[in-house]
Amino acid sequence: MMEQSIESYIKNLVRDVIGQTLGELQLQNDRQTYVIANWKMNKNLAETAEFFQKIKSNNEVSVVVCPPTQLLYPAHLFINQTKKPIGLGGQNVHWADKGAYTGETSISMLKDVGCDYCIIGHSERRQYAGEDDQLINQKVKKAIQAGITPIICIGETLEEKNSMQTEQVLSTQLFGALKEIASSNFILAYEPVWAIGTGQSATAELAQQTHAYIRSILTKMIGQKAESISILYGGSANESNAAEYSAMPDIDGVLVGGASLHAHSFDAIINVFTKGEQNQ
Ligand code: PGA
Repeated sequence: MMEQSIESYIKNLVRDVIGQTLGELQLQNDRQTYVIANWKMNKNLAETAEFFQKIKSNNEVSVVVCPPTQLLYPAHLFINQTKKPIGLGGQNVHWADKGAYTGETSISMLKDVGCDYCIIGHSERRQYAGEDDQLINQKVKKAIQAGITPIICIGETLEEKNSMQTEQVLSTQLFGALKEIASSNFILAYEPVWAIGTGQSATAELAQQTHAYIRSILTKMIGQKAESISILYGGSANESNAAEYSAMPDIDGVLVGGASLHAHSFDAIINVFTKGEQNQ
C-alpha cells in the first residue's frame, strides 16, 4: 500500500513537472516576434508616404510602426492603401479619457485613427517629460482597458549600470508599471538608456541575460503567463546586430529608433527576424 502510494506520488510528480515544462515550452513557442519602429520626432507627410510605399514587411513577424501623433492618421491610410500587414502605434498617450489637457492625446483618439499599440514609459519621456512609474502605470491601465497593447519600456541609465543597480532599477520599473494589472496583454521593451541613439548597443549576451532576469521577475508577478510575454530589445538595434539578438531565446524582437527611419534598413531588420522565425 505504502509502496503503491509512493509510486503514484512519483508518477504524479513526474507528470506535473513534465506537464508544467511542456506548458512553458508551448507558451514560449506561442510568443509573438515583433519588429517595431519608433520614429520619435522625425518625418513629414511626404516621407511617411514614401516609407509605406517602399517597406516590404510580411506575415511571419509582427511589424508595427509608431509615427509622431500628427502622422498617425495618414499612416493608417497609407497602410490600408498599400494593404501591407503593418500595425500602427502611438508613441505616448494621456491617462485621462478627455478634458483640459492641452497638447495631449487620449487613448480613444489613438483608437480612432487606427492604432492597436502604444509605446508607454519610453526613457525619453521619463527624462524630458518627468514621467514616473506611477504615471506610467495609469497609462498602461488605460491602454489595456481600451484594448490597445502597451509597449512598456524599461531600462537603466549608464550611471545605474556602472553602480550595479540594473536589476534593482528594472524590477522597480516593472513592479511600478504593472501594479494592479492582471492582464498579460502587453509587450515589454528592455531599452538600456546608455544604448539608445548612441551606437553603443548592448551585446546580445548581455541583453539575453537581462531579458531572462526580466522574465524571472515577471514570473514572480504573473506566474507561468510570463512565458508568453514578448520582451523586445531596444537601443541602437540595426541591420548589422539584429541577427545576434534574434538568435537569443528570450529576445522576441526589437524596438528600433534610428534604423527604422529608412525603409531599406528597417526591411533588413524585419528580414533577419523572419529568417529566425522560419528556422524555429
Ligand atoms: P535607437 O532608439 O534605435 O535610435 O537607439 C531606440 C528607441 O529609443 O526606442
